[in-house]
Amino acid sequence: SRPIQIAPSILTADFGHLADQIRQAEEGGADVIHLDVMDGIFVPNISFGPLVVRAVREVTRLPLDVHLMIQDPERYLAAFAEAGADNLTVHVEACTHLHRTVQQITELGCRAGVALNPATSVEAVREILPFVDMILVMSVNPGFGAQRFIETSMNKLQRVRRLQEELNPLCALEVDGGIGTHNIADVIRSGANVIVVGSSVFNQEGSIQENLAALRQASR
Ligand code: DX5
Ligand code: ZN
Repeated sequence: SRPIQIAPSILTADFGHLADQIRQAEEGGADVIHLDVMDGIFVPNISFGPLVVRAVREVTRLPLDVHLMIQDPERYLAAFAEAGADNLTVHVEACTHLHRTVQQITELGCRAGVALNPATSVEAVREILPFVDMILVMSVNPGFGAQRFIETSMNKLQRVRRLQEELNPLCALEVDGGIGTHNIADVIRSGANVIVVGSSVFNQEGSIQENLAALRQASR
């Protein structure tokens, strides 16, 4: 389905008060919680694993959108599904047998997403597109929050959306990295309907609720 969904990423949240930060995001109208899993191999940073996903599962009813920035993610699909993930997104660059990996995600009862790094061609997802629920376009190089939006991502979003309309019209299109009030309307116009927002929600001056309200206002 294609409604506009705001997906706060907890990577830049205050991990000393994570439950409270997530409750504020939920009160602020977040539609989905985006959880950035990093292994220090596929990306140059380490974040968290199934334990934190399980902890988040206990404090919110919102869908959990788990972004696996890990090498050979098929090793951990069951663990993240058991931890409470609703969506499991794997990187096309990290999977040797992507069709099999997507099949495993679906067999676990999760929605399947496939992510593209900034330098990976849209063509890399043509063959898998009919089998997935979402394509994630990285608009920053993965590994960190609070980076600058890569401007060529707008055109890439439009090209992914065109491919989806051809091969899988109901497939969601998620954009991730460097999104704020200054560009959220543009990424939506470019075809994105699931909008990941990290530092524009969690480490700004305003409250989480105020930051989310400003993003929703700017998205119209
Ligand atoms: C980066 C992560 C993104 C990031 C978004 O590797 O996948 O989800 O946390 O944070 P901002 O919105 O601050 O770029
Ligand atoms: Zn992410």
